[in-house]
Amino acid sequence: MLALINQIVDKCLAAIQEASSTQQLADIRVRFLGKSGEYTSILRGMKDVPPAEKPQMGKHINEGRERIEQALAAKESECKAAELAARLEAESIDVTLTKDLPFGSTHPVTLVLDQIIDIFVGLGFRAVEGREIESDYYNFQLMNIPLDHPARDMQDTFYVTENTLLRTHTSPMQAHTMQEEKPPIRIVVPGKVYRADDDATHSPVFHQIEGLVVDKGISLAHLKGTLDAAARALFSAETKTRFRPSYFPFTEPSVEVDCSCPLCGGKGCRLCKGTGWIEILGAGVVNPQVLINCGIDPNEYSGIAFGMGIERIAMIKYGVPDIRSLYENDVRFLKQYC
Ligand code: DAH
Repeated sequence: MLALINQIVDKCLAAIQEASSTQQLADIRVRFLGKSGEYTSILRGMKDVPPAEKPQMGKHINEGRERIEQALAAKESECKAAELAARLEAESIDVTLTKDLPFGSTHPVTLVLDQIIDIFVGLGFRAVEGREIESDYYNFQLMNIPLDHPARDMQDTFYVTENTLLRTHTSPMQAHTMQEEKPPIRIVVPGKVYRADDDATHSPVFHQIEGLVVDKGISLAHLKGTLDAAARALFSAETKTRFRPSYFPFTEPSVEVDCSCPLCGGKGCRLCKGTGWIEILGAGVVNPQVLINCGIDPNEYSGIAFGMGIERIAMIKYGVPDIRSLYENDVRFLKQYC
Protein backbone atom coordinates (compact mmCIF):
# COMPACT_ATOMS: atom_id res chain seq x y z
CA MET A 1 0.00 0.00 0.00
CA LEU A 2 2.92 2.32 0.75
CA ALA A 3 4.14 1.84 -2.79
CA LEU A 4 0.68 2.60 -4.18
CA ILE A 5 0.46 5.80 -2.18
CA ASN A 6 3.85 6.95 -3.40
CA GLN A 7 2.92 6.09 -6.93
CA ILE A 8 -0.30 8.14 -6.88
CA VAL A 9 1.44 11.07 -5.20
CA ASP A 10 4.15 11.03 -7.86
CA LYS A 11 1.57 10.81 -10.64
CA CYS A 12 -0.35 13.70 -9.17
CA LEU A 13 2.76 15.87 -8.68
CA ALA A 14 3.75 15.22 -12.29
CA ALA A 15 0.29 16.25 -13.50
CA ILE A 16 0.50 19.43 -11.41
CA GLN A 17 3.90 20.21 -12.83
CA GLU A 18 2.55 19.93 -16.37
CA ALA A 19 -0.61 21.95 -15.79
CA SER A 20 -0.68 25.41 -17.29
CA SER A 21 -4.01 26.89 -16.15
CA THR A 22 -6.06 27.26 -12.98
CA GLN A 23 -8.81 25.29 -14.70
CA GLN A 24 -6.49 22.32 -15.27
CA LEU A 25 -5.42 22.52 -11.63
CA ALA A 26 -9.03 22.49 -10.51
CA ASP A 27 -9.58 19.36 -12.61
CA ILE A 28 -6.51 17.72 -11.08
CA ARG A 29 -7.78 18.53 -7.60
CA VAL A 30 -11.07 16.79 -8.37
CA ARG A 31 -9.32 13.85 -10.08
CA PHE A 32 -7.05 13.11 -7.11
CA LEU A 33 -8.57 14.71 -4.03
CA GLY A 34 -12.27 14.79 -4.95
CA LYS A 35 -14.85 12.57 -3.27
CA SER A 36 -14.09 9.64 -5.51
CA GLY A 37 -10.63 10.89 -6.50
CA GLU A 38 -7.69 8.53 -6.95
CA TYR A 39 -5.96 9.61 -3.75
CA THR A 40 -9.10 9.72 -1.67
CA SER A 41 -9.95 6.16 -2.64
CA ILE A 42 -6.75 4.94 -0.95
CA LEU A 43 -8.52 5.56 2.33
CA ARG A 44 -10.81 2.69 1.51
CA GLY A 45 -7.79 0.34 1.67
CA MET A 46 -7.18 1.38 5.29
CA LYS A 47 -9.64 -1.21 6.57
CA ASP A 48 -7.33 -4.01 5.39
CA VAL A 49 -4.23 -2.55 7.08
CA PRO A 50 -3.26 -4.44 10.27
CA PRO A 51 -4.10 -2.31 13.34
CA ALA A 52 -0.45 -2.03 14.37
CA GLU A 53 0.45 -0.38 11.06
CA LYS A 54 -2.54 1.92 10.89
CA PRO A 55 -1.00 4.97 12.63
CA GLN A 56 2.08 4.79 10.43
CA MET A 57 -0.02 4.37 7.29
CA GLY A 58 -2.37 7.20 8.27
CA LYS A 59 0.60 9.48 8.78
CA HIS A 60 1.96 8.54 5.37
CA ILE A 61 -1.38 9.24 3.69
CA ASN A 62 -1.63 12.64 5.36
CA GLU A 63 1.91 13.55 4.36
CA GLY A 64 1.18 12.59 0.76
CA ARG A 65 -1.95 14.70 0.79
CA GLU A 66 -0.01 17.59 2.28
CA ARG A 67 2.58 17.38 -0.50
CA ILE A 68 -0.16 17.41 -3.15
CA GLU A 69 -1.88 20.41 -1.51
CA GLN A 70 1.38 22.34 -1.34
CA ALA A 71 2.21 21.63 -4.97
CA LEU A 72 -1.32 22.63 -6.02
CA ALA A 73 -1.18 25.88 -4.06
CA ALA A 74 2.23 26.82 -5.47
CA LYS A 75 1.23 26.09 -9.04
CA GLU A 76 -2.15 27.79 -8.56
CA SER A 77 -0.59 31.09 -7.58
CA GLU A 78 1.84 30.80 -10.49
CA CYS A 79 -1.00 30.18 -12.98
CA LYS A 80 -3.17 32.92 -11.46
CA ALA A 81 -0.42 35.48 -11.91
CA ALA A 82 0.17 34.38 -15.50
CA GLU A 83 -3.55 34.50 -16.30
CA LEU A 84 -3.90 37.96 -14.81
CA ALA A 85 -0.91 39.21 -16.79
CA ALA A 86 -2.38 37.75 -19.99
CA ARG A 87 -5.74 39.36 -19.30
CA LEU A 88 -4.22 42.75 -18.55
CA GLU A 89 -2.23 42.49 -21.76
CA ALA A 90 -5.32 41.55 -23.80
CA GLU A 91 -7.51 44.28 -22.28
CA SER A 92 -4.88 46.98 -22.12
CA ILE A 93 -5.62 50.36 -23.64
CA ASP A 94 -2.90 52.31 -25.36
CA VAL A 95 -3.62 55.82 -24.10
CA THR A 96 -1.11 57.29 -26.54
CA LEU A 97 -3.15 56.19 -29.56
CA THR A 98 -4.78 59.25 -31.05
CA LYS A 99 -6.79 57.93 -33.96
CA ASP A 100 -9.32 55.23 -34.69
CA LEU A 101 -10.54 55.37 -31.12
CA PRO A 102 -14.06 54.07 -30.67
CA PHE A 103 -16.62 56.71 -29.79
CA GLY A 104 -18.34 56.56 -26.43
CA SER A 105 -22.10 56.34 -26.32
CA THR A 106 -24.90 57.91 -24.34
CA HIS A 107 -25.59 56.10 -21.08
CA PRO A 108 -28.94 54.27 -21.11
CA VAL A 109 -30.18 56.30 -18.11
CA THR A 110 -29.32 59.54 -19.92
CA LEU A 111 -30.96 58.22 -23.10
CA VAL A 112 -34.22 57.53 -21.29
CA LEU A 113 -34.08 60.75 -19.28
CA ASP A 114 -33.52 62.84 -22.44
CA GLN A 115 -36.34 61.03 -24.20
CA ILE A 116 -38.77 61.65 -21.33
CA ILE A 117 -37.79 65.33 -21.10
CA ASP A 118 -38.37 65.65 -24.87
CA ILE A 119 -41.81 64.07 -24.56
CA PHE A 120 -42.92 66.50 -21.85
CA VAL A 121 -41.35 69.51 -23.54
CA GLY A 122 -43.41 68.46 -26.58
CA LEU A 123 -46.50 68.60 -24.35
CA GLY A 124 -45.71 72.16 -23.26
CA PHE A 125 -43.68 71.52 -20.09
CA ARG A 126 -40.46 73.35 -19.18
CA ALA A 127 -37.50 71.43 -17.69
CA VAL A 128 -35.98 72.88 -14.51
CA GLU A 129 -33.40 71.50 -12.13
CA GLY A 130 -33.28 71.67 -8.36
CA ARG A 131 -30.61 71.21 -5.71
CA GLU A 132 -29.46 67.83 -4.47
CA ILE A 133 -28.90 68.98 -0.89
CA GLU A 134 -32.25 70.12 0.43
CA SER A 135 -33.65 71.30 3.70
CA ASP A 136 -36.05 69.14 5.65
CA TYR A 137 -38.52 72.00 5.19
CA TYR A 138 -38.62 71.69 1.38
CA ASN A 139 -38.04 67.95 1.07
CA PHE A 140 -40.72 67.04 3.61
CA GLN A 141 -42.60 69.78 5.43
CA LEU A 142 -43.80 71.88 2.48
CA MET A 143 -44.74 68.63 0.73
CA ASN A 144 -47.16 67.96 3.60
CA ILE A 145 -44.90 65.50 5.43
CA PRO A 146 -44.61 67.11 8.90
CA LEU A 147 -41.83 66.36 11.37
CA ASP A 148 -42.28 62.89 12.89
CA HIS A 149 -45.00 61.98 10.39
CA PRO A 150 -45.00 58.22 9.67
CA ALA A 151 -45.02 58.94 5.91
CA ARG A 152 -41.31 59.78 6.31
CA ASP A 153 -40.69 56.06 6.62
CA MET A 154 -41.58 55.71 2.93
CA GLN A 155 -38.23 57.31 2.10
CA ASP A 156 -35.08 56.18 3.95
CA THR A 157 -33.01 59.30 4.19
CA PHE A 158 -29.36 60.43 4.24
CA TYR A 159 -29.10 63.42 6.57
CA VAL A 160 -26.29 65.96 6.16
CA THR A 161 -27.16 67.86 9.33
CA GLU A 162 -30.26 67.68 11.48
CA ASN A 163 -32.18 69.87 9.05
CA THR A 164 -30.46 69.25 5.73
CA LEU A 165 -30.42 66.07 3.71
CA LEU A 166 -29.73 64.58 0.31
CA ARG A 167 -33.10 65.02 -1.36
CA THR A 168 -35.09 61.80 -1.31
CA HIS A 169 -37.22 62.83 -4.30
CA THR A 170 -37.48 65.60 -6.88
CA SER A 171 -40.76 66.78 -5.33
CA PRO A 172 -39.23 69.67 -3.30
CA MET A 173 -38.68 71.45 -6.61
CA GLN A 174 -42.48 71.69 -6.82
CA ALA A 175 -42.40 73.88 -3.73
CA HIS A 176 -39.49 76.06 -4.96
CA THR A 177 -41.27 76.65 -8.27
CA MET A 178 -44.68 77.41 -6.73
CA GLN A 179 -43.05 79.90 -4.35
CA GLU A 180 -41.17 81.63 -7.13
CA GLU A 181 -43.64 81.62 -10.02
CA LYS A 182 -47.26 82.43 -10.61
CA PRO A 183 -49.53 79.86 -12.29
CA PRO A 184 -49.88 78.64 -14.95
CA ILE A 185 -46.99 76.34 -14.06
CA ARG A 186 -45.99 73.40 -16.22
CA ILE A 187 -42.63 71.92 -15.27
CA VAL A 188 -40.68 68.68 -15.29
CA VAL A 189 -37.74 68.25 -12.91
CA PRO A 190 -35.12 65.67 -13.85
CA GLY A 191 -32.34 64.85 -11.42
CA LYS A 192 -30.57 62.65 -8.91
CA VAL A 193 -32.20 61.61 -5.65
CA TYR A 194 -30.80 59.66 -2.70
CA ARG A 195 -32.11 56.96 -0.40
CA ALA A 196 -30.55 54.55 2.09
CA ASP A 197 -31.56 51.60 -0.06
CA ASP A 198 -29.42 49.08 -1.96
CA ASP A 199 -30.40 45.86 -3.75
CA ALA A 200 -31.05 44.45 -7.23
CA THR A 201 -33.82 46.99 -7.92
CA HIS A 202 -32.81 49.88 -5.62
CA SER A 203 -29.73 52.08 -5.69
CA PRO A 204 -28.71 54.62 -3.01
CA VAL A 205 -28.56 57.24 -5.76
CA PHE A 206 -30.94 57.16 -8.69
CA HIS A 207 -32.77 59.51 -11.04
CA GLN A 208 -36.30 60.77 -11.00
CA ILE A 209 -38.35 63.08 -13.13
CA GLU A 210 -41.01 65.07 -11.40
CA GLY A 211 -43.94 66.73 -13.15
CA LEU A 212 -46.13 69.58 -11.93
CA VAL A 213 -49.01 71.45 -13.53
CA VAL A 214 -50.82 74.22 -11.64
CA ASP A 215 -53.53 76.23 -13.36
CA LYS A 216 -57.23 77.01 -13.17
CA GLY A 217 -59.51 73.98 -13.53
CA ILE A 218 -56.81 71.28 -13.57
CA SER A 219 -58.19 67.83 -12.69
CA LEU A 220 -57.43 64.14 -12.58
CA ALA A 221 -58.63 63.94 -16.20
CA HIS A 222 -55.67 66.13 -17.27
CA LEU A 223 -53.36 63.76 -15.41
CA LYS A 224 -54.80 60.76 -17.22
CA GLY A 225 -54.58 62.42 -20.63
CA THR A 226 -51.03 63.65 -20.06
CA LEU A 227 -49.67 60.35 -18.76
CA ASP A 228 -51.48 58.38 -21.48
CA ALA A 229 -49.83 60.50 -24.15
CA ALA A 230 -46.44 60.23 -22.46
CA ALA A 231 -46.64 56.43 -22.09
CA ARG A 232 -47.58 56.06 -25.76
CA ALA A 233 -44.63 58.21 -26.79
CA LEU A 234 -42.27 56.40 -24.44
CA PHE A 235 -43.18 52.80 -25.25
CA SER A 236 -45.52 52.41 -28.24
CA ALA A 237 -48.73 53.79 -29.73
CA GLU A 238 -50.64 50.77 -28.35
CA THR A 239 -49.62 51.39 -24.73
CA LYS A 240 -52.47 51.88 -22.26
CA THR A 241 -52.32 53.24 -18.72
CA ARG A 242 -54.38 52.46 -15.64
CA PHE A 243 -54.63 54.27 -12.31
CA ARG A 244 -54.70 52.42 -9.00
CA PRO A 245 -55.63 54.25 -5.79
CA SER A 246 -52.59 54.97 -3.63
CA TYR A 247 -51.34 57.36 -0.98
CA PHE A 248 -48.86 60.22 -1.10
CA PRO A 249 -49.02 63.06 1.43
CA PHE A 250 -48.60 65.68 -1.33
CA THR A 251 -51.47 64.52 -3.54
CA GLU A 252 -55.15 63.87 -2.93
CA PRO A 253 -56.37 61.69 -4.51
CA SER A 254 -53.15 59.78 -5.15
CA VAL A 255 -52.63 57.08 -7.74
CA GLU A 256 -50.05 54.60 -8.83
CA VAL A 257 -49.88 54.39 -12.59
CA ASP A 258 -49.31 51.17 -14.51
CA CYS A 259 -48.84 50.83 -18.24
CA SER A 260 -49.66 47.80 -20.32
CA CYS A 261 -46.53 45.64 -20.44
CA PRO A 262 -44.32 46.90 -23.30
CA LEU A 263 -42.78 43.44 -23.74
CA CYS A 264 -45.93 41.30 -24.18
CA GLY A 265 -48.49 44.04 -24.94
CA GLY A 266 -50.58 43.01 -21.93
CA LYS A 267 -50.85 39.27 -22.49
CA GLY A 268 -48.68 38.43 -19.48
CA CYS A 269 -44.99 37.55 -19.48
CA ARG A 270 -41.88 37.30 -17.29
CA LEU A 271 -41.36 41.09 -17.20
CA CYS A 272 -44.90 41.87 -15.95
CA LYS A 273 -44.98 38.69 -13.83
CA GLY A 274 -47.96 37.46 -15.81
CA THR A 275 -50.18 40.44 -14.93
CA GLY A 276 -49.96 42.32 -18.23
CA TRP A 277 -49.25 45.59 -16.34
CA ILE A 278 -46.12 47.33 -15.09
CA GLU A 279 -45.99 50.08 -12.48
CA ILE A 280 -44.22 53.15 -13.83
CA LEU A 281 -44.89 56.07 -11.50
CA GLY A 282 -46.75 57.75 -8.66
CA ALA A 283 -49.04 60.70 -9.24
CA GLY A 284 -52.13 62.56 -8.15
CA VAL A 285 -54.02 65.81 -7.77
CA VAL A 286 -51.88 68.27 -5.79
CA ASN A 287 -53.06 68.30 -2.18
CA PRO A 288 -54.63 71.74 -1.49
CA GLN A 289 -52.50 71.89 1.67
CA VAL A 290 -49.34 71.85 -0.51
CA LEU A 291 -50.73 74.75 -2.58
CA ILE A 292 -51.43 76.68 0.63
CA ASN A 293 -47.94 75.84 2.00
CA CYS A 294 -46.42 77.32 -1.15
CA GLY A 295 -48.56 80.48 -1.27
CA ILE A 296 -51.09 79.46 -3.94
CA ASP A 297 -54.82 79.86 -3.32
CA PRO A 298 -56.49 76.44 -3.73
CA ASN A 299 -59.86 78.14 -4.32
CA GLU A 300 -58.46 79.68 -7.46
CA TYR A 301 -55.99 77.05 -8.67
CA SER A 302 -55.56 73.30 -8.68
CA GLY A 303 -52.74 71.06 -9.83
CA ILE A 304 -51.58 67.63 -10.86
CA ALA A 305 -48.19 66.07 -10.17
CA PHE A 306 -46.26 62.93 -10.86
CA GLY A 307 -42.87 61.41 -10.15
CA MET A 308 -41.15 58.53 -11.86
CA GLY A 309 -37.89 56.64 -11.42
CA ILE A 310 -35.77 56.76 -14.55
CA GLU A 311 -33.69 53.63 -13.86
CA ARG A 312 -36.91 51.69 -13.48
CA ILE A 313 -38.12 52.88 -16.88
CA ALA A 314 -34.71 52.09 -18.44
CA MET A 315 -34.81 48.59 -16.91
CA ILE A 316 -38.30 48.02 -18.36
CA LYS A 317 -37.43 49.47 -21.76
CA TYR A 318 -34.16 47.57 -22.15
CA GLY A 319 -34.97 44.44 -20.13
CA VAL A 320 -32.19 45.02 -17.56
CA PRO A 321 -32.82 42.75 -14.54
CA ASP A 322 -30.29 44.26 -12.09
CA ILE A 323 -30.12 48.02 -11.49
CA ARG A 324 -26.44 47.74 -10.55
CA SER A 325 -25.44 46.96 -14.13
CA LEU A 326 -26.49 50.52 -14.97
CA TYR A 327 -23.71 51.89 -12.73
CA GLU A 328 -20.82 49.48 -13.25
CA ASN A 329 -19.70 51.26 -16.42
CA ASP A 330 -18.82 48.02 -18.15
CA VAL A 331 -18.30 49.14 -21.75
CA ARG A 332 -19.56 45.79 -23.06
CA PHE A 333 -22.93 46.44 -21.34
CA LEU A 334 -23.16 50.13 -22.25
CA LYS A 335 -22.35 49.57 -25.93
CA GLN A 336 -25.61 47.69 -26.42
CA TYR A 337 -27.68 50.85 -26.02
CA CYS A 338 -26.03 53.38 -28.31
N1 DAH B 1 -42.11 61.70 -4.65
C1 DAH B 1 -42.64 60.37 -4.82
C2 DAH B 1 -41.56 59.35 -4.51
O1 DAH B 1 -40.41 59.67 -4.64
C3 DAH B 1 -43.13 60.15 -6.22
C4 DAH B 1 -44.32 61.00 -6.51
C5 DAH B 1 -45.57 60.47 -6.30
C6 DAH B 1 -44.19 62.28 -6.99
C7 DAH B 1 -46.70 61.23 -6.54
C8 DAH B 1 -45.30 63.06 -7.23
C9 DAH B 1 -46.56 62.50 -7.00
O2 DAH B 1 -45.23 64.31 -7.66
O3 DAH B 1 -47.65 63.27 -7.27
O4 DAH B 1 -41.85 58.25 -4.13
